[in-house]
Amino acid sequence: MVHAPSWRVLAASLFLVVGAGCASAQNAPPPSKGPGHAAIASANYLATNAGFEVLGKGGNAFDAAVAVSSTLAVVEQQSSGIGGGFMALLHRASDNRDVFIDARETAPKAVDMKVYVGKDGQPNRDVSTNGPLSAGIPGEPAGLVWMAAHYGKLPLSVSLAPAIRIATEGFQPDARFLGTIDDRKDVLARYPASAAVYLPGGKVPTAGWTLRQPDLAKTLQRLAAKGHDGFYKGETAKLLVDASRGAGGNWTAADLEAYQAKERQPLSIDYKGYRIVTAPPPSSGGVAIAEVLNIMSGFDLAKLDLAHSTHLTIEAMRRAFRDHNEYLGDPDFVKMPLDMLLSAYYADGLRATISPDKATPSDLLPTSMAPEPGMHTTHFSVIDADGNMVASTLTVNLEFGSAFIAKGTGVVLNDEMDDFALVPGQPNAFGLRGALANAPEPGKRMLSSMSPSFVFGADRTAVIGSPGGSTIITQVLEGILAFIDGKSASEITAQKRYHHQYLPDRVDVEAGVFDDATTKALTDMGHVLRNRSPWGFMNVVTWDHRTNKLDAASDPRRPSGLGKVQ
Ligand code: GLY
Repeated sequence: MVHAPSWRVLAASLFLVVGAGCASAQNAPPPSKGPGHAAIASANYLATNAGFEVLGKGGNAFDAAVAVSSTLAVVEQQSSGIGGGFMALLHRASDNRDVFIDARETAPKAVDMKVYVGKDGQPNRDVSTNGPLSAGIPGEPAGLVWMAAHYGKLPLSVSLAPAIRIATEGFQPDARFLGTIDDRKDVLARYPASAAVYLPGGKVPTAGWTLRQPDLAKTLQRLAAKGHDGFYKGETAKLLVDASRGAGGNWTAADLEAYQAKERQPLSIDYKGYRIVTAPPPSSGGVAIAEVLNIMSGFDLAKLDLAHSTHLTIEAMRRAFRDHNEYLGDPDFVKMPLDMLLSAYYADGLRATISPDKATPSDLLPTSMAPEPGMHTTHFSVIDADGNMVASTLTVNLEFGSAFIAKGTGVVLNDEMDDFALVPGQPNAFGLRGALANAPEPGKRMLSSMSPSFVFGADRTAVIGSPGGSTIITQVLEGILAFIDGKSASEITAQKRYHHQYLPDRVDVEAGVFDDATTKALTDMGHVLRNRSPWGFMNVVTWDHRTNKLDAASDPRRPSGLGKVQ
């Protein structure tokens, strides 16, 4: 465990601080005294309630995060689970310490890029997104054990209890859950253990169906009883390896034994008097958000109409995503020019290439490359009564990950291998193109867009994040900007969104985000706008230091979510 000095010392010396705006944010840590009540926003009401159940048993925000994560692994397996991974930002109030928990999946030792390339030299999407070869070694169990042991107050037997109970007793999946089973039914049907859970009687279940997951409950019980080894060694590990290899996968017991969650130093960005603490590599999200804010800090956006301020923001996104594709990967494997990418000088150079009223075709921005993400990840936000905070984004990658349940475990394996640049220069499932920095290697973590973030201001704090593949980065960025503009948690989650990721060279827009005049002005400047749906599932918690009131909101686009203050 890394012991850290106080928040102020970290801000001055250890953090990779990106200076995009004025320096006053350095004087804006959250208040030293907690709010005295708690707030949780997650994608599922059962998970939000599980977090409050554990707070009620004497737990803190970190124990609640374990309860919310593990319950999401039961009630929202299409988006995240213990067969996947997560990235979480923790703020510990007692010493004002911010830390990033990297529980991202790793490539197995036997990874072989050739299996992901078809005879035509193009990516073989079936192998990279379906079945055991698409799965990285899971990180979520290790990350939860680490978080409970180093930051929580309660044993796993208490913080995992709600998830185990719901897996055993069952719950009624909502329309979204049933819709994702329908989306993935053909692949789920390939694997008997997946079909047995999700296609009872060989059919997509209908409303009113109760999903009980006794194997998953037993896997969670072994995790609760034995901690890390209860997943990465012994019965669960053997079941996972046997199932993977039995269906053409390449995992070994050594791959599971070698997996470790890691603590990393978060990125910290100063912008307009706020300090934004966000995800470092192997997430590309924080670097991209920092680059966009650095570029934007040199523009007086308040003086511009919506079309022109949006144009400049799109151009900043375009440039940040180009670098995302080109340079970023697992910091344990790749040397990245972060000092350059995060410097004000570099942002000045990028800003100088932006025309005030003309879109730059992405083709004119040079790149050497190879990777787009989706809607199947999840995010939750927590602040407890003492002021501890968690922003956590969790994923199995696409809907139901690989759609492969390892027999006897109830665990849906991720399909995170597709987040590597499996064929450099060719787009992944999210249209993102990656370079060699994100090529797979044994034990390497695949690049992610997950961007759990804190925004600390003198008067207000926000805990924010979203699923959405590559759009995570721009959705979180737009949420941060909305918070800085004074918007409430509900306004931030409801706000309409847009996105540009360099390639494909187009602006994805949510219906209604721009009025007709703004749409015309952007089109006249050379931007190609394309309607996109769905967006979201942003979950935001805010703390107003002046009133000491918390607020929580779950994205109104999805009715299963719940933001609650208690
Ligand atoms: N699997 C989506 C991401 O990590 O960005």
